[in-house]
Amino acid sequence: MIRIAHISDTHITQDPAFKSYAYDLIVNEVNRSDFDLVIHTGDVTNQGLKEEYEHASYLIRKIEKPLIVLPGNHDARNVGYELFEKYIGPLYGVYERDDLVIIWIDSTIPDLSDGRVGGYKFRWLKEKLEEYSHKKFKIVAAHHHLVPLPDTGRERNVLYNAGDVLDLLLRHEVNLYLCGHKHVPNVYSIEDLVVVNAGCTSCRKTRKGDVNSYNIIKLNGDGRIDVTIRRVTGDEEKKSYKSVKPKLFIPKGKHLLRIVQMSESNVSDRIYFRKRVLENAIRAINEKYKPDLVIHCGDIVDVGIERYYEAAAGYYEKIKAEKMIVPGHNDITYLGYDLFKEYFGEPEIKEFGDFVFIPLLTAQYETPIGVVGRMGQRLLKSLLEEHKEKFTAVVMHHNLIPIPRSRELGFLEDAGNVLKILTEERTELVMTGHGGNAFGVRIERTPIVNAGSVSWELQRDPFGNSFNLIDIYEDMIVAFEIQATWGSRKLLGIWKIKTEVPWKNNG
Ligand SMILES: [Fe+2]
Ligand SMILES: [Fe+2]
Repeated sequence: MIRIAHISDTHITQDPAFKSYAYDLIVNEVNRSDFDLVIHTGDVTNQGLKEEYEHASYLIRKIEKPLIVLPGNHDARNVGYELFEKYIGPLYGVYERDDLVIIWIDSTIPDLSDGRVGGYKFRWLKEKLEEYSHKKFKIVAAHHHLVPLPDTGRERNVLYNAGDVLDLLLRHEVNLYLCGHKHVPNVYSIEDLVVVNAGCTSCRKTRKGDVNSYNIIKLNGDGRIDVTIRRVTGDEEKKSYKSVKPKLFIPKGKHLLRIVQMSESNVSDRIYFRKRVLENAIRAINEKYKPDLVIHCGDIVDVGIERYYEAAAGYYEKIKAEKMIVPGHNDITYLGYDLFKEYFGEPEIKEFGDFVFIPLLTAQYETPIGVVGRMGQRLLKSLLEEHKEKFTAVVMHHNLIPIPRSRELGFLEDAGNVLKILTEERTELVMTGHGGNAFGVRIERTPIVNAGSVSWELQRDPFGNSFNLIDIYEDMIVAFEIQATWGSRKLLGIWKIKTEVPWKNNG
């Protein structure tokens, strides 16, 4: 077993923003316990100043264990990244020990709070992951978070290319991603990757009245990963994950429902709108796939004008299956909000036996940034609570997980809170449709599937325009991406449904 103490965001400075008693308390606790190593995920100092680095290099040496320290945005301020190397250590590197490798990387951007693992850094990370692919435990650490976090106010400052980084880590079967930055301790599993955010170890700036904390991570011989968030008050939160390998699932239960999920048709007379591709997709959906429900996750028109809505309604009335269409930000431009209601109606909750589909409105005027809002979050929570005996699926336009090949700037400003509600309230499936690329992952126990664009040339999927085919079995959810012109398939995910869910015992 390997035991790691994960500290972060010490924000060492001379003023009272730095809580030296919390730092000493945690460091003493760490020194007294049997940790094999300590990792600090950045914001060692508060402003990246020389006097702070001098003080920090003294305080850091109080840790009597092998130590990895990586830079945060605060360390990079005032060209502090130069001082970091002088006083603390290398900005990126590799630590090896038995069957463990830790690859740490500098995700900071000079003078910005945002993060990035772009260009050469991304290539370096990829090379290192290939080089150490034989290791049983692969850990990647950087300062910035990878998926939206709850209780952070406006959800911002994720890695610009979080989608590419997430995709890379999943492809290389990385076991753990360690980060800090938002001062909110949190643990999520994304497929078999455990993403651990540290709270802040010794900074005054905690959120929602929280106290200072650090994480205890245990890597067990059988592959299980235990994470404990330990606060200075002695309170602990524990989570434990075991990966399933090899992943070979075959649905054994009855087939219950088939969904076709589409997005970003962007019906218009612009050159980027591929009319034939959309017609072909609709024909294939009617004749070949014959779903029970077609879900369109937004941007059905390119611009909210009557002519486009009339054309869009013409295409979509040809679909024989039941439909659920939620608006995207393109749909509500100009007169779009009224036209959407006129042509497609206000999205409403749909029930099919034990299945409930809840549409969530996220689009705002004149901005690609979406919001559910505090009232919307409350409503969502109560709807999920009300229908908890059923299979609950949530449908929305904006993506909740970062999408590969897109720039992630928090397209849903409260994505962190929404994601927390969805994962905690037993949501069985989430369907989103922003970002122009198909992608599917399970976070905790909730599969989240994003649809690429079905007929818009400006998209990010090398597979081409596509829609998703989601089959729900008694014991499994299987999602494929279907190429809209040729009909070829790509697996997005296969997710087991836990046996104890109540909706299965209703009938
Ligand atoms: Fe910080
Ligand atoms: Fe930070």
